[in-house]
Amino acid sequence: TYVVTEACIKCKYTDCVEVCPVDCFYEGENMLVINPDECIDCGVCEPECPAEAILPDTEDGLEQWLEINEKFSAVWPNITEKVDALPGADDAVGEANKLADLSE
Ligand code: SF4
Ligand code: F3S
Repeated sequence: TYVVTEACIKCKYTDCVEVCPVDCFYEGENMLVINPDECIDCGVCEPECPAEAILPDTEDGLEQWLEINEKFSAVWPNITEKVDALPGADDAVGEANKLADLSE
């Protein structure tokens, strides 16, 4: 599966949802996640994210993000159409340690 990682937090550009063939993105207040059970591993969303937030979970160190994608995709609503990025997204894109800012 692919997972959405820290870089999405406070940005939420939503370019990713436009290209997903199985509509498996779910929307929180300041981040999207992928439902790992629905993702078909096509990879088309990865290059679409301006924040480079989407990665295959086969990369090292992404266990925590896989858990976050699993947990929140079960409770957040599905999103299938691009919306405006969050205000301040372009400033937040390079920030480190954004996990503390994640709105559940
Ligand atoms: Fe959707 Fe493909 Fe991205 Fe999985 S890898 S979330 S199926 S676009
Ligand atoms: Fe987030 Fe990137 Fe999609 S910032 S909303 S994963 S395009």
